Amino acid sequence: MCGIVGYIGSKDACPFLLSGLQRLEYRGYDSAGIATLRQSDNIRVTKVAGRVAELDAALQHKPMAGPLGIGHTRWATHGAATQDNAHPHLGGSAAVTLAHNGVIENYESLKSELVGKGYQFVSQTDSEVVAHLVAECLKEAQGDGAEPEVQHCVDAMQAAIARLRGTYGLVVMFREFPDLLIAARCGSPLVVGVGKQEQFVASDTSPLVGFTERIIYLADHQIAVIRPDNIQVLHRDHGRVRPDIQTLSSQSQDASLEGYEHYMLKEIYEQPQSIQNALRGRIDRDNATAKFGGLNLTTQQLRGIQRVILTGCGTSWHSALVGDYLIEELARIPVEVEYASELRYRNPPVDHDTVVFGITQSGETADTLAALREMKRKGHHTLAICNVIGSSIAQEADGGIYLHAGPEIGVASTKAFTSQLTVLSMLALYFGRLRHLSFEAGQRIITQLELLPQVVEQTLGCHKQVREIAAKYADASNFLYLGRKFNFPTALEGALKLKEISYIHAEGYPAAEMKHGPIALVDENTPSVFIVPQGTVYEKVLSNLQEVKARGGPVIAIVDHEDPQVTKLADDVIHIPEIEDFLQPIVASIPLQLLSYEIALLRGCDVDKPRNLAKSVTVE
Ligand code: F6R
Repeated sequence: MCGIVGYIGSKDACPFLLSGLQRLEYRGYDSAGIATLRQSDNIRVTKVAGRVAELDAALQHKPMAGPLGIGHTRWATHGAATQDNAHPHLGGSAAVTLAHNGVIENYESLKSELVGKGYQFVSQTDSEVVAHLVAECLKEAQGDGAEPEVQHCVDAMQAAIARLRGTYGLVVMFREFPDLLIAARCGSPLVVGVGKQEQFVASDTSPLVGFTERIIYLADHQIAVIRPDNIQVLHRDHGRVRPDIQTLSSQSQDASLEGYEHYMLKEIYEQPQSIQNALRGRIDRDNATAKFGGLNLTTQQLRGIQRVILTGCGTSWHSALVGDYLIEELARIPVEVEYASELRYRNPPVDHDTVVFGITQSGETADTLAALREMKRKGHHTLAICNVIGSSIAQEADGGIYLHAGPEIGVASTKAFTSQLTVLSMLALYFGRLRHLSFEAGQRIITQLELLPQVVEQTLGCHKQVREIAAKYADASNFLYLGRKFNFPTALEGALKLKEISYIHAEGYPAAEMKHGPIALVDENTPSVFIVPQGTVYEKVLSNLQEVKARGGPVIAIVDHEDPQVTKLADDVIHIPEIEDFLQPIVASIPLQLLSYEIALLRGCDVDKPRNLAKSVTVE
């Protein structure tokens, strides 16, 4: 949540800062700002209550030069999305300028202390408190009349962050030191890009692509003291540490629209490829199983697993629900699915043969990270099913599986969801084959998995029809999404996609739950989307569909064969290709993603940056 960039070197900072903020905008987009500094000058700041494009426009009128600069794109937590609350913030009469990600929990007590010392606040943010606190610590470090030194700035940073409770990723400039940038991390990711006579900082790797391939992931409690020609990393407890310079993965390649109107649409269309990438190298036909390199468990430990906990948030939690059905059905291991935000505060009695999987696209979701840490603290093996390489969760888990879906920029998750389901299907096969699942069953599952990319490609052929259906229902105020067994989570995910990008109220339910309450919502203005492919619960879902029709509700049905019964009843029918039921959520999600996309477009919504949302939720 929120994006940070910083530059120090010999060139003008602004072009990198602006392009970086554009690439980070998916992390937060309600206000933006940059600050620059050049030798013998004052710090200059431009901020807007709006998007990076508006910041760019403001800078056309008022260009800012300087080889040192920081920038920020915000997702508001403390204080509304106003210009004053936008970052960067100034501290101590502009001696210090900083941008902050995260949440400072003790900001109110620090603020009253600073107000008592005469500091004046212009924003409602917790971040401005940090700016003044660093300025105050700088004053103390410098003492009376001493010549300012870089070491004073480092001491001031260390003293200030020692007083913070909460999470932060900070980049800080000091007016007296136009060749110094300090970055500090605790719970909010920061990456330093190493260049030649120039260095970069960003809250994820995307701004660095095309600028440098050498990166340092800062760990919690580290600060980086960055000069144009050198970087020192200091750890709170261990002093100076040798920076671990890594190579930027090819997966972080620049994500451009490539002719698509929106990232969401591009990412929907990328699914045949992203699913293929998730499968690549993980199928072992000879042994009728899947294989994973990074679980870091012996075969004996894997066979001994008695329980699996799957946790995540939002769409990733929906993947966990599908994972529950998959692992129980194929591997017969008891599974529990938990919202990460609940798991982190629960104290479930868990025995030693339990493994905990955190499912996450970004690898930065605060609740998922905290839940995994809590489970790890209690001695459980924690694993990540994660897309972003090098993310906090990928680094902290004991092992895991990468999705290899490529950058997902659209705020609404699409291809990460279907890749998560692909990985979970392989995981269920793998666990199953370590237990009772036969060689023949394994082979059959592999055949289905290998068909997936092509089946998903075929499914995308429904787009035109979905667009026509969207036009019929775009004015509705409420939608119901209904499915059973594997497709109950599909229904939840369909409803989430619609509400987050079109702002239509939508509810997902197991179809049979309808009659226990939600059926009261059915009327001629409330469309119900039924996921009703062939399978063990087909007849049951059909009965539920009839119950809705009997009450005059319009029905959009998703079917996987020529189905005269459904065609007779439903107002609109979308055909998807046939696939075994355990893979239906992947295929059935495609028309649901397209339906939300088309409805959101018709309602004039900003599909890639829906209101109030951000792509990676790094606050609790
Ligand atoms: C919905 C969506 C969110 C995320 C959730 C978890 O489209 O994107 O619900 O799924 O915020 O994010 P990750 O998977 O990054 O942990």
